[in-house]
Order: sequence, then C-alpha cells, then structure tokens
Amino acid sequence: MNGISINEIISSDKHVDHEVSVCGWVKSFRANRFIALNDGSCLKNIQCVIDFENTNQEELKKISTGAALSVTGKLVSSQGSKQSTEIQVSKFEILGEADAEIYPIQPKKHSFEFLRENAHLRTRTNTFSAVMRIRSSLSFAIHSYFNLNGFYYVHTPIITGSDAEGAGEQFRVTTLDLKNTPVDSSGKIDFKEDFFGKETNLTVSGQLEAEAYAMSMGKVYTFGPTFRAENSNTSRHLSEFWMIEPEVAFMDIKGNIELAEDFLKYVIDYILKNNIDDLDFLETRLLNEEKQKPQNERNELSLTEKLNFVITNKFKVITYSEAIEILRNCKPNKKKKFKYIIDEWGADLQSEHERFLVEKEFKCPVVIYDYPAKIKSFYMRLNDDGKTVRAMDILFPGIGEIVGGSQREERLDVLLKKIKQIGIDEKELWWYTDLRKYGTAVHSGFGLGFERLVMFATGMTNIRDVIPFPRTPKNAEF
Ligand code: 4AD
Repeated sequence: MNGISINEIISSDKHVDHEVSVCGWVKSFRANRFIALNDGSCLKNIQCVIDFENTNQEELKKISTGAALSVTGKLVSSQGSKQSTEIQVSKFEILGEADAEIYPIQPKKHSFEFLRENAHLRTRTNTFSAVMRIRSSLSFAIHSYFNLNGFYYVHTPIITGSDAEGAGEQFRVTTLDLKNTPVDSSGKIDFKEDFFGKETNLTVSGQLEAEAYAMSMGKVYTFGPTFRAENSNTSRHLSEFWMIEPEVAFMDIKGNIELAEDFLKYVIDYILKNNIDDLDFLETRLLNEEKQKPQNERNELSLTEKLNFVITNKFKVITYSEAIEILRNCKPNKKKKFKYIIDEWGADLQSEHERFLVEKEFKCPVVIYDYPAKIKSFYMRLNDDGKTVRAMDILFPGIGEIVGGSQREERLDVLLKKIKQIGIDEKELWWYTDLRKYGTAVHSGFGLGFERLVMFATGMTNIRDVIPFPRTPKNAEF
C-alpha cells in the first residue's frame, strides 16, 4: 500500500502540517466538500476536505459511499468538533467507483441478516470491522500468551486418518468418483482405492496429535480450523470453527483449570488494553440495543464492565455432583421451567442449565469438573470412584460452554478397556496407545472455541457474526 494508514495519521501528531497520502473507502460524502474516508486500519475515519470551486465537477460526482479513493493533502488541525485533524485535499483520484444506486452498504442501519448475505462487504460497516479487528487481536494475544509461557505451536493435520476422536460427526475427504465408487468383495466402498488408501476426514480436533507432541516437547498448543458435520443450527454452532488446544505433559486437572483461567484472563485483558476504540463502539451499540429491552431483561453490566469483571474475579470451580445438587433444588427445576428437568445424577447438562449456573446462581464464569464417565470421551482420566472422569468445562455468561478439556487417561490398561467398551478398533488408535506404552505420564489439555471467545469479547450474540465467512448446515456461500 502506498502512503500511510489512517490509524498512523490519527494516533500521533507528527504528521500535522505535513503532506500525507492515504487510500480508503468513502464512508460518507456531504455538502460536496467533506469526505469521511476509512481504510479499515481503525474504527475512526479521516475527514478529507475538498476545495469544491477548484475541483473537476465530473470527478466530484463520482465520489459516493463505498468508492475507493486515494487522497493527498496537508494534514491540519480540524475546525470541526468531531475530529482533531483533517486533510485539506490538494489531489485525489477515484480508484474504484461504487454505483450509489446499487451499492448495498449505505450509511444507515442494516440488519445482521442482510449483512450476513453480504458477508463480502460487511466489514465495511463499523460493527463488523470492529469485531474482526478484535478477532485479530485475540489471535495475536493467544499466540503471545503461549509464547511467553514456554509453549510450542504445533500444526496438527487438517485431514485425519483417525475417525475415532469421538468429538462429533465428521466430513469425509475423498477423491473417489461418487458416481462410480469402487467396492470390495463384500460390496462396501473400497477406500484402498481412495487418495490416501484409507478413509479420511476433516479433523474435529487436533488433540490426539497434540498429545503426541506434548509427550515429547512438554508444553504445546494447536490453533487451527476444525470441522463438525452436526446438523446444529444454533447461534453457538458452526460447521467450521477455530479451536485453540493446549496440551501439557506432567500437568493434572488442577493445573489444567488454572492454565485455562490464566490464559482467558490474559487474552481478555489484552483487548481491553489494545482495542479501546472498537470496544467503546461495540459497548455503545449494545447499550442502545439494551434500551429497547424491557427493564428486567437488560444486562446488568456493560460490555467492558463484563470483561473487566472476568479478569478481576476468580472463576467459580465446582464438581459436576455439586452442580447437579444446585440444579436439582433450584426454582426453575422445581417449577418445571427447564425444558430438561434434572432429577438424576448422570444427566448431561443442557445450555439452559449451564446458563442458570453462570447467569443466575454464580454470576461469574464457572468451571465444572469430574463429570460422569458415561457422558464424556474415552480418553479422559478415570477417577478412583470408577464412575467419574477428570473432565472440565468452563461456562461463560451469555455463551455457555466456552472450554472443554480434561486430564487424559495415561494408563494403558484402563485406556484399552475404554476403547474396547465404546467399540473402537484398537488398531485404529495404535499410535495413540503407543504413547501410553513408551514413557507414559500424567498430561492434560483443553479446547477453547475461538468464535465463542470472540462472541464473549464483542457482545455479539450470533456466532455467524464473529467469523468472516461462516459455514453452517446448508450454507457455504462465499
Ligand atoms: O468440547 P469439545 O468438543 O472438545 C474437544 O474437541 C477436545 N478435543 C478439546 C481438547 O481437550 N483439546 O470442543 C471444545 C470447544 C467447546 O468448548 C466450544 O467452545 C467449541 O470448542 N465448540 C464449537 N464452537 C463452535 N461451533 C461448534 N460446532 C463447536 N463445537 C465445539
């Protein structure tokens, strides 16, 4: 890019009284004189003032919302109250026009549904550019946290040959001719003929491979896309989402919970310090939205108050059994207000239960651990009671489950028994069980759903609005 960014211009006064050149898109153009130009580098626009009398009138007519412009002129202190500096334009060039009759992103309020249909243009709005800048900052903070704390970044595979991770339905990867699939002698699809010579899928999690690296490099993490072919059309589920998965050797469930809390606080603190304008904008947007709601349904805390609350208060840590006791005796359960009534130990917690615990009972993030073995994955460490495993979930206000993790089963005999019980062919997981044969040790890790974190950090309520181009059932446009 030629010239400097608008962010650079407005964040110091070193350019004042000097000539600057910027490129950007027109946010608005009024009185044939004032262009609000934005280049996406920050929320703020720069005001560019045109000398109407000395400008080619035909060129002026081409300036409309959405057009790409390059502008040169002197940066001066502004006389307007809305901005401290502005550019007195001496030269401008229209790089790309945007026909005002058909340009979809007009300077007015658009619904999120409409913007989802125009996902290729929606980051031209303040809301979406703010969300995506925060998303970018959070990614940076995540890498920074792990780097500062001695973790190595491992690129676990996207295409996986193991269909036994047990985290959800998978998308098949194949180059077989679907109109003429080869079959073996028993009439089944012959995957030996397929590209990899075996069945392959898109990964649902990098955990199993990360475990292999933790068992040699100590502290590792993955941060990559994961894919789930579940037909979950909710505001919290995507078919393609990004997951952060640390995995640490010689660390038990207690260390795992502490790591997750410390990590979440660090990344939230990072954006509070580095995305002030974007958070302010989203906070105002949310406050306006809240005003439309009845008094009793309004959020008690503003966006930044909520983020500050999370970083300054300890997470509440309870066992699954304690959670069940609370839920069994709570008002909505007794009055049968829950869709799924809790009456027995062993029930899986639904999002209505998670939200009750976080939003009504404790009013802070809640960590639940020691879940019943039968509702959790095969690789989780069995407790001495023989019926619970060292699993942990972290629940956040407004989001529900944001983290899922566990101490892993490091005992070969117990793991093999578990694999058999759930009907997976042991041979499929030969390399995973090898890790328990050669130098096995206590180890733990967790998965953080990146988009759920971005939802929490931005106050957005639909997960489709925090990822650039969402993939959901029946939707892979763009
Ligand atoms: O609880 P999950 O399924 O855990 C795992 O995949 C483990 N292998 C992680 C580990 O221990 N390394 O998923 C972890 C997190 C959830 O807590 C949630 O935040 C997010 O991933 N998640 C989804 N986010 C968006 N859309 C979906 N369909 C999601 N499914 C899970």
